[in-house]
Amino acid sequence: MARKTTRYVCQECGGAHPKWSGRCDACGAWNTLIEEAAPEQTPKGLGSKRGRKIAFVGLDGEPDAAPRRVSGIKEFDRACGGGLVPGSALLVGGDPGIGKSTLLLQASAALAANLCCAYISGEESIDQLRLRAKRLGLDKAPVQLAAATSVRDIAAALDDRQGPDVVVIDSIQTMFVDSLESAPGTVAQVRTSAQELIKIAKKRGFCLLLVGHVTKDGQIAGPKVLEHMVDTVLYFEGDRSHQFRILRSVKNRFGATDEIGVFEMTGAGLAEIANPSSLFLADREANVNGACVFAGMEGTRPLLVEIQALTASTTFAAPRRAVVGWGSGRLAMILAVLESRSGLALGNCDVYLNVAGGLRISEPAADLAVAAALASSASGVPVAAGTVVFGEVGLSGEVRVVAQMDARLKEAEKLGFTKAIIPKMPGKRRRGGLAGGLEVREILHLSDLLALLRSTASGGRRGARQRQDSMDHPSRERASHG
Ligand code: TYD
Ligand code: MG
Repeated sequence: MARKTTRYVCQECGGAHPKWSGRCDACGAWNTLIEEAAPEQTPKGLGSKRGRKIAFVGLDGEPDAAPRRVSGIKEFDRACGGGLVPGSALLVGGDPGIGKSTLLLQASAALAANLCCAYISGEESIDQLRLRAKRLGLDKAPVQLAAATSVRDIAAALDDRQGPDVVVIDSIQTMFVDSLESAPGTVAQVRTSAQELIKIAKKRGFCLLLVGHVTKDGQIAGPKVLEHMVDTVLYFEGDRSHQFRILRSVKNRFGATDEIGVFEMTGAGLAEIANPSSLFLADREANVNGACVFAGMEGTRPLLVEIQALTASTTFAAPRRAVVGWGSGRLAMILAVLESRSGLALGNCDVYLNVAGGLRISEPAADLAVAAALASSASGVPVAAGTVVFGEVGLSGEVRVVAQMDARLKEAEKLGFTKAIIPKMPGKRRRGGLAGGLEVREILHLSDLLALLRSTASGGRRGARQRQDSMDHPSRERASHG
């Protein structure tokens, strides 16, 4: 019987199939199978040949690692976990045109001040790179440029004692290894190219920065193994209609994940944003119903954003639910909890929810702020001015404690907020309901939130009525005070 020499590999998930079909059985993606040469069969098991014994050592002992390489672009260094680790590989993924090449050119120019940096592009020519550098005002930075795609040639240049300290490969999908038959960008090519480059980086101790394309649904193209192979994975995200960009760390072997760096795309490249909350709250209108400021955390950094909700009576049999920047499943849950645990029925309303500024929030701590925005929109009463809200909402309507409450409160206070609605910490009492200069309301249940909103509403209305009364009958006002 003739041996099979080819197989069909899914470009989305990396699953291998013996026969071609229109749909990958492993991940369900359509039209993603590409023919590849099958790897040579490896012998099963170890056989009888004995290996050399490995040596074991203890956990203590000084690592002889060089210090981290810091670019000086603070937002970039922060997302990397405090600088680049020598001998490590970092992958930056993101939508086309989001600014990956710009970011890495700026980072390598900054690093080139003290280190030898190489920027290898498989996508742009030298002239195009120079043009971009000129636009960014970086044309005098001592970065070593090259336009190349053959991993064999690149390896020959890098595998050298006098090689560079930092190497940027833009992008890994354009690289190819000539011993493989498949086209650049296929799973096998991406995997092998990355493997070869990482091997040299570990051997020579340079930092390898790889640019990776993302697929339609936002995953880094190529198999998940690419993310397993590198030490750090960063996603460069942002709404192209908005100016700001977020560099988010999703994996880091040498630092904390969920750390973000915030940038703004300007005419002269990416500018750092040191205080992102002020950016996200910039064009906020005071005293509108349906808006609520959420004190969130992105990694170790507090970030305040506005959550906006709009409820309108529907003309459809199934009301519309549209969400931007938050999970639609989570919204459905909050709507259900609001209805069954605190009697606020929005079943015959269209609901629109938006996180202002184009940010994406994944924290459950936003539940309470979403509930407040929804309740405020449904009742037509604005959340009291200068209020921040955070807390997780459980299925029975209970409001749960979230992480890093103090950091959130501190940031809110720093930005001039005066009130906070937060979960009640069991067994912990805040002195006089104040945390710093903030008036803190601790609540246990969603109905407490609705009651609080109602009280500000009636308080507001009563205040307005009183003011009107005192204008009409100044003497009565004085008398009632007396
Ligand atoms: P680029 O870094 O080429 O994106 P990627 O490598 O992720 O595909 O960024 C291209 C976009 O950035 C392009 O739409 C124009 C914009 N841009 C600016 O707004 N200002 C600049 O100074 C530069 C260099 C690019
Ligand atoms: Mg690019």
